[in-house]
Amino acid sequence: MDKHQKIRKAVIPAAGLGTRVLPASKAVPKEMLPIVDKPAIQYIVEEAAAAGVTDILIITNRGKGVIEDHFDHSVELEAMLRGKGNEEVCRQLEAVAHLANIYYVRQKETKGLGHAVLCARDFIGDEPFAVLYGDDVIIGEDPAIAQLCRAYERYGKGVVGIKEVSEEAILRYSSLAVSPLEGRNFAVSDMVEKPNKEEILSLYSILGRCVLPPQIFDLLAVTPLGAGGELQLTDAMKALTLRDGMVGVDFTGKRYDMGNKLGILEANIEVGLRHPEIGEGLRAYLLELAKTL
Ligand code: UTP
Repeated sequence: MDKHQKIRKAVIPAAGLGTRVLPASKAVPKEMLPIVDKPAIQYIVEEAAAAGVTDILIITNRGKGVIEDHFDHSVELEAMLRGKGNEEVCRQLEAVAHLANIYYVRQKETKGLGHAVLCARDFIGDEPFAVLYGDDVIIGEDPAIAQLCRAYERYGKGVVGIKEVSEEAILRYSSLAVSPLEGRNFAVSDMVEKPNKEEILSLYSILGRCVLPPQIFDLLAVTPLGAGGELQLTDAMKALTLRDGMVGVDFTGKRYDMGNKLGILEANIEVGLRHPEIGEGLRAYLLELAKTL
Protein backbone atom coordinates (compact mmCIF):
# COMPACT_ATOMS: atom_id res chain seq x y z
CA MET A 1 0.00 0.00 0.00
CA ASP A 2 1.28 3.51 -0.77
CA LYS A 3 1.80 5.29 2.51
CA HIS A 4 3.88 8.33 1.67
CA GLN A 5 2.89 11.87 0.84
CA LYS A 6 1.44 12.65 -2.62
CA ILE A 7 3.45 15.03 -4.81
CA ARG A 8 1.56 18.30 -5.46
CA LYS A 9 4.37 20.67 -6.37
CA ALA A 10 6.97 20.70 -9.13
CA VAL A 11 9.95 22.82 -10.11
CA ILE A 12 11.02 23.34 -13.71
CA PRO A 13 14.51 24.88 -13.97
CA ALA A 14 14.61 26.90 -17.19
CA ALA A 15 17.34 29.44 -16.47
CA GLY A 16 20.33 27.85 -18.19
CA LEU A 17 22.27 29.70 -20.86
CA GLY A 18 21.62 27.10 -23.55
CA THR A 19 25.05 27.61 -25.08
CA ARG A 20 24.81 24.36 -27.07
CA VAL A 21 21.90 25.66 -29.14
CA LEU A 22 23.09 29.20 -29.80
CA PRO A 23 22.23 31.34 -31.67
CA ALA A 24 18.66 29.94 -31.53
CA SER A 25 18.65 30.40 -27.75
CA LYS A 26 20.07 33.91 -27.74
CA ALA A 27 16.76 35.77 -27.38
CA VAL A 28 14.41 32.79 -26.96
CA PRO A 29 15.00 30.41 -24.02
CA LYS A 30 15.78 26.90 -25.34
CA GLU A 31 12.80 25.68 -23.28
CA MET A 32 10.59 27.72 -25.64
CA LEU A 33 11.95 26.14 -28.84
CA PRO A 34 9.09 24.31 -30.57
CA ILE A 35 8.44 20.64 -31.11
CA VAL A 36 6.08 20.86 -34.11
CA ASP A 37 3.46 23.27 -32.70
CA LYS A 38 4.15 23.54 -28.97
CA PRO A 39 7.19 24.86 -27.10
CA ALA A 40 9.23 22.20 -25.26
CA ILE A 41 8.22 23.50 -21.85
CA GLN A 42 4.52 23.00 -22.61
CA TYR A 43 5.08 19.25 -23.03
CA ILE A 44 6.81 19.28 -19.63
CA VAL A 45 4.04 21.23 -17.88
CA GLU A 46 1.46 18.86 -19.46
CA GLU A 47 3.43 15.87 -18.15
CA ALA A 48 3.47 17.30 -14.61
CA ALA A 49 -0.24 18.14 -14.74
CA ALA A 50 -1.04 14.63 -16.01
CA ALA A 51 0.80 13.24 -12.97
CA GLY A 52 -1.46 15.17 -10.60
CA VAL A 53 0.89 18.10 -9.91
CA THR A 54 -1.19 21.23 -9.23
CA ASP A 55 1.46 23.91 -8.52
CA ILE A 56 4.52 24.51 -10.68
CA LEU A 57 7.40 26.92 -10.13
CA ILE A 58 9.39 27.76 -13.25
CA ILE A 59 12.92 29.04 -12.59
CA THR A 60 13.72 31.65 -15.22
CA ASN A 61 16.21 34.34 -16.00
CA ARG A 62 16.23 35.95 -19.39
CA GLY A 63 13.27 35.71 -21.69
CA LYS A 64 10.98 35.36 -18.69
CA GLY A 65 8.25 37.35 -20.39
CA VAL A 66 7.92 34.82 -23.21
CA ILE A 67 7.37 31.86 -20.87
CA GLU A 68 4.91 33.80 -18.69
CA ASP A 69 2.99 35.01 -21.73
CA HIS A 70 2.78 31.49 -23.11
CA PHE A 71 1.01 30.12 -20.02
CA ASP A 72 -1.27 33.15 -19.70
CA HIS A 73 -4.50 34.07 -21.50
CA SER A 74 -4.12 36.05 -24.69
CA VAL A 75 -7.46 37.83 -24.54
CA GLU A 76 -7.15 39.64 -27.88
CA LEU A 77 -5.91 36.57 -29.76
CA GLU A 78 -8.64 34.38 -28.31
CA ALA A 79 -11.34 36.96 -29.18
CA MET A 80 -9.99 37.32 -32.70
CA LEU A 81 -9.93 33.53 -33.27
CA ARG A 82 -13.43 33.16 -31.85
CA GLY A 83 -14.65 36.00 -34.10
CA LYS A 84 -13.29 34.10 -37.10
CA GLY A 85 -14.97 30.88 -35.97
CA ASN A 86 -11.64 29.17 -35.21
CA GLU A 87 -12.97 27.49 -32.05
CA GLU A 88 -10.53 24.57 -32.03
CA VAL A 89 -7.32 26.64 -31.87
CA CYS A 90 -9.01 28.99 -29.41
CA ARG A 91 -9.87 26.04 -27.15
CA GLN A 92 -6.24 24.84 -27.32
CA LEU A 93 -4.96 28.28 -26.32
CA GLU A 94 -7.37 28.50 -23.39
CA ALA A 95 -6.36 25.04 -22.19
CA VAL A 96 -2.69 26.10 -22.00
CA ALA A 97 -3.61 28.82 -19.52
CA HIS A 98 -5.38 26.29 -17.26
CA LEU A 99 -2.87 23.44 -17.09
CA ALA A 100 -1.74 24.21 -13.52
CA ASN A 101 -1.08 27.08 -11.13
CA ILE A 102 2.20 28.36 -12.51
CA TYR A 103 4.57 30.63 -10.58
CA TYR A 104 7.91 32.13 -11.55
CA VAL A 105 11.11 33.05 -9.77
CA ARG A 106 14.33 34.39 -11.23
CA GLN A 107 17.66 32.73 -10.70
CA LYS A 108 19.77 35.86 -10.48
CA GLU A 109 23.07 34.20 -11.40
CA THR A 110 23.50 31.12 -13.59
CA LYS A 111 25.23 29.03 -10.95
CA GLY A 112 24.01 25.59 -11.93
CA LEU A 113 21.04 23.23 -11.67
CA GLY A 114 21.50 22.80 -7.90
CA HIS A 115 21.44 26.56 -7.42
CA ALA A 116 18.32 26.80 -9.60
CA VAL A 117 16.54 24.20 -7.44
CA LEU A 118 17.64 26.03 -4.28
CA CYS A 119 15.74 29.09 -5.59
CA ALA A 120 12.54 27.04 -5.07
CA ARG A 121 13.03 26.62 -1.32
CA ASP A 122 10.36 29.10 -0.13
CA PHE A 123 7.84 27.88 -2.72
CA ILE A 124 8.24 24.23 -1.75
CA GLY A 125 8.34 24.61 2.03
CA ASP A 126 8.24 21.33 3.90
CA GLU A 127 6.95 18.78 1.39
CA PRO A 128 8.40 16.44 -1.22
CA PHE A 129 8.41 17.79 -4.77
CA ALA A 130 9.14 16.89 -8.38
CA VAL A 131 11.89 18.38 -10.55
CA LEU A 132 11.50 18.30 -14.34
CA TYR A 133 14.51 19.66 -16.21
CA GLY A 134 13.22 22.29 -18.61
CA ASP A 135 15.11 21.04 -21.64
CA ASP A 136 14.31 17.32 -21.28
CA VAL A 137 11.07 16.37 -22.99
CA ILE A 138 9.87 12.82 -22.33
CA ILE A 139 7.01 11.46 -24.39
CA GLY A 140 5.20 8.26 -23.47
CA GLU A 141 1.85 6.75 -22.51
CA ASP A 142 2.58 6.87 -18.77
CA PRO A 143 3.99 10.30 -17.82
CA ALA A 144 7.60 9.81 -16.69
CA ILE A 145 7.19 12.00 -13.60
CA ALA A 146 4.09 10.00 -12.59
CA GLN A 147 6.25 6.86 -12.57
CA LEU A 148 8.70 8.60 -10.20
CA CYS A 149 5.91 9.98 -7.99
CA ARG A 150 4.51 6.46 -7.56
CA ALA A 151 7.97 5.24 -6.50
CA TYR A 152 8.20 8.07 -3.95
CA GLU A 153 4.77 7.23 -2.56
CA ARG A 154 5.81 3.59 -2.32
CA TYR A 155 9.31 3.86 -0.82
CA GLY A 156 9.30 7.31 0.85
CA LYS A 157 12.79 8.04 -0.50
CA GLY A 158 14.15 10.49 -3.04
CA VAL A 159 13.71 9.15 -6.60
CA VAL A 160 15.73 9.77 -9.76
CA GLY A 161 14.69 8.99 -13.32
CA ILE A 162 17.39 6.80 -14.86
CA LYS A 163 18.34 5.30 -18.23
CA GLU A 164 21.35 3.39 -19.51
CA VAL A 165 23.45 5.58 -21.81
CA SER A 166 26.55 5.01 -23.93
CA GLU A 167 30.07 5.01 -22.44
CA GLU A 168 30.76 8.22 -24.33
CA ALA A 169 27.61 9.94 -22.98
CA ILE A 170 28.11 8.92 -19.35
CA LEU A 171 31.18 11.18 -19.13
CA ARG A 172 28.95 14.20 -19.83
CA TYR A 173 26.11 13.11 -17.49
CA SER A 174 26.15 11.35 -14.12
CA SER A 175 26.88 7.73 -13.24
CA LEU A 176 25.02 5.71 -10.57
CA ALA A 177 25.71 2.63 -8.45
CA VAL A 178 22.46 0.64 -8.68
CA SER A 179 21.04 -2.75 -7.69
CA PRO A 180 17.65 -4.13 -8.79
CA LEU A 181 14.67 -3.67 -6.44
CA GLU A 182 11.53 -4.72 -8.34
CA GLY A 183 10.22 -4.12 -11.85
CA ARG A 184 11.87 -1.01 -13.26
CA ASN A 185 12.91 0.21 -9.79
CA PHE A 186 16.51 0.16 -8.53
CA ALA A 187 18.18 0.94 -5.21
CA VAL A 188 20.75 3.72 -5.72
CA SER A 189 23.72 3.64 -3.34
CA ASP A 190 26.10 6.19 -4.88
CA MET A 191 26.42 8.67 -7.75
CA VAL A 192 28.98 10.89 -9.41
CA GLU A 193 28.48 13.90 -11.70
CA LYS A 194 30.51 14.00 -14.95
CA PRO A 195 32.74 11.07 -13.97
CA ASN A 196 36.14 10.48 -15.50
CA LYS A 197 36.67 6.97 -16.92
CA GLU A 198 37.93 5.50 -13.61
CA GLU A 199 34.96 6.91 -11.66
CA ILE A 200 32.18 5.29 -13.77
CA LEU A 201 29.89 3.32 -11.40
CA SER A 202 27.56 1.98 -14.12
CA LEU A 203 26.10 3.20 -17.41
CA TYR A 204 22.90 4.24 -15.60
CA SER A 205 22.59 8.00 -15.57
CA ILE A 206 20.07 10.47 -14.11
CA LEU A 207 18.00 11.86 -16.98
CA GLY A 208 15.72 14.81 -16.61
CA ARG A 209 13.44 13.96 -13.69
CA CYS A 210 13.59 13.49 -9.92
CA VAL A 211 11.37 13.60 -6.84
CA LEU A 212 13.06 14.99 -3.77
CA PRO A 213 12.30 15.35 -0.07
CA PRO A 214 12.53 18.92 1.32
CA GLN A 215 15.72 17.95 3.21
CA ILE A 216 17.53 18.39 -0.12
CA PHE A 217 17.55 22.17 0.50
CA ASP A 218 19.71 21.89 3.65
CA LEU A 219 22.09 19.65 1.68
CA LEU A 220 22.19 22.03 -1.29
CA ALA A 221 22.94 24.94 1.02
CA VAL A 222 26.18 23.30 2.19
CA THR A 223 27.20 21.64 -1.11
CA PRO A 224 30.43 23.14 -2.49
CA LEU A 225 30.62 24.16 -6.15
CA GLY A 226 31.31 21.09 -8.30
CA ALA A 227 31.90 20.24 -11.96
CA GLY A 228 32.16 23.35 -14.16
CA GLY A 229 32.29 25.60 -11.08
CA GLU A 230 28.50 25.15 -10.71
CA LEU A 231 26.35 24.04 -7.76
CA GLN A 232 25.49 20.55 -8.95
CA LEU A 233 22.16 18.98 -7.95
CA THR A 234 23.83 15.56 -8.31
CA ASP A 235 26.36 16.45 -5.57
CA ALA A 236 23.54 17.23 -3.08
CA MET A 237 21.64 14.09 -4.17
CA LYS A 238 24.82 12.08 -3.59
CA ALA A 239 24.89 13.32 0.03
CA LEU A 240 21.19 12.37 0.33
CA THR A 241 21.94 8.94 -1.19
CA LEU A 242 24.84 8.21 1.17
CA ARG A 243 22.64 9.19 4.14
CA ASP A 244 19.22 7.71 3.26
CA GLY A 245 19.60 5.86 -0.07
CA MET A 246 17.60 6.83 -3.15
CA VAL A 247 15.50 4.93 -5.68
CA GLY A 248 16.13 4.92 -9.43
CA VAL A 249 13.23 4.41 -11.86
CA ASP A 250 14.16 3.26 -15.35
CA PHE A 251 11.19 5.17 -16.76
CA THR A 252 9.32 4.25 -19.93
CA GLY A 253 8.96 6.90 -22.63
CA LYS A 254 11.31 8.49 -25.14
CA ARG A 255 13.52 11.33 -23.97
CA TYR A 256 14.50 14.20 -26.24
CA ASP A 257 17.34 16.53 -25.26
CA MET A 258 16.18 19.99 -26.32
CA GLY A 259 19.53 21.42 -25.19
CA ASN A 260 21.21 19.85 -28.21
CA LYS A 261 20.69 20.46 -31.92
CA LEU A 262 20.23 16.82 -32.93
CA GLY A 263 17.82 16.25 -30.02
CA ILE A 264 15.64 19.11 -31.24
CA LEU A 265 15.47 17.65 -34.77
CA GLU A 266 14.74 14.11 -33.54
CA ALA A 267 11.91 15.41 -31.37
CA ASN A 268 10.39 17.35 -34.24
CA ILE A 269 10.58 14.44 -36.67
CA GLU A 270 9.21 11.78 -34.29
CA VAL A 271 6.45 13.92 -32.81
CA GLY A 272 5.69 15.24 -36.29
CA LEU A 273 5.24 11.71 -37.64
CA ARG A 274 2.56 11.06 -35.00
CA HIS A 275 0.86 14.43 -35.43
CA PRO A 276 -2.71 14.08 -36.75
CA GLU A 277 -2.44 17.15 -38.99
CA ILE A 278 1.01 16.73 -40.57
CA GLY A 279 2.01 13.10 -39.81
CA GLU A 280 1.06 11.69 -43.18
CA GLY A 281 2.61 14.52 -45.16
CA LEU A 282 5.85 14.34 -43.18
CA ARG A 283 6.09 10.56 -43.69
CA ALA A 284 5.70 10.93 -47.46
CA TYR A 285 8.28 13.73 -47.50
CA LEU A 286 10.82 11.74 -45.46
CA LEU A 287 10.40 8.63 -47.62
CA GLU A 288 11.04 10.71 -50.74
CA LEU A 289 13.98 12.51 -49.14
CA ALA A 290 15.54 9.25 -47.89
CA LYS A 291 15.86 8.06 -51.50
CA THR A 292 18.23 10.93 -52.16
CA LEU A 293 20.46 10.45 -49.08
P1 UTP B 1 21.92 22.34 -18.69
O1 UTP B 1 23.20 22.02 -18.08
O2 UTP B 1 21.48 21.60 -19.90
O3 UTP B 1 21.75 23.89 -19.04
O4 UTP B 1 20.83 22.32 -17.53
P2 UTP B 1 22.57 24.96 -19.81
O5 UTP B 1 23.55 25.62 -18.91
O6 UTP B 1 21.53 25.84 -20.39
O7 UTP B 1 23.29 24.15 -20.99
P3 UTP B 1 24.47 24.54 -21.97
O8 UTP B 1 25.53 23.57 -21.61
O9 UTP B 1 24.84 25.99 -21.75
O10 UTP B 1 23.95 24.34 -23.37
C1 UTP B 1 19.65 21.52 -17.44
C2 UTP B 1 18.43 22.36 -17.06
O11 UTP B 1 18.70 23.18 -15.93
C3 UTP B 1 18.47 24.54 -16.21
C4 UTP B 1 18.53 24.66 -17.73
O12 UTP B 1 17.72 25.72 -18.19
C5 UTP B 1 18.04 23.31 -18.20
O13 UTP B 1 16.63 23.30 -18.33
N1 UTP B 1 19.50 25.36 -15.50
C6 UTP B 1 20.81 25.10 -15.66
C7 UTP B 1 19.08 26.40 -14.70
O14 UTP B 1 17.86 26.66 -14.53
N2 UTP B 1 20.03 27.17 -14.07
C8 UTP B 1 21.36 26.94 -14.20
O15 UTP B 1 22.17 27.68 -13.59
C9 UTP B 1 21.76 25.87 -15.02
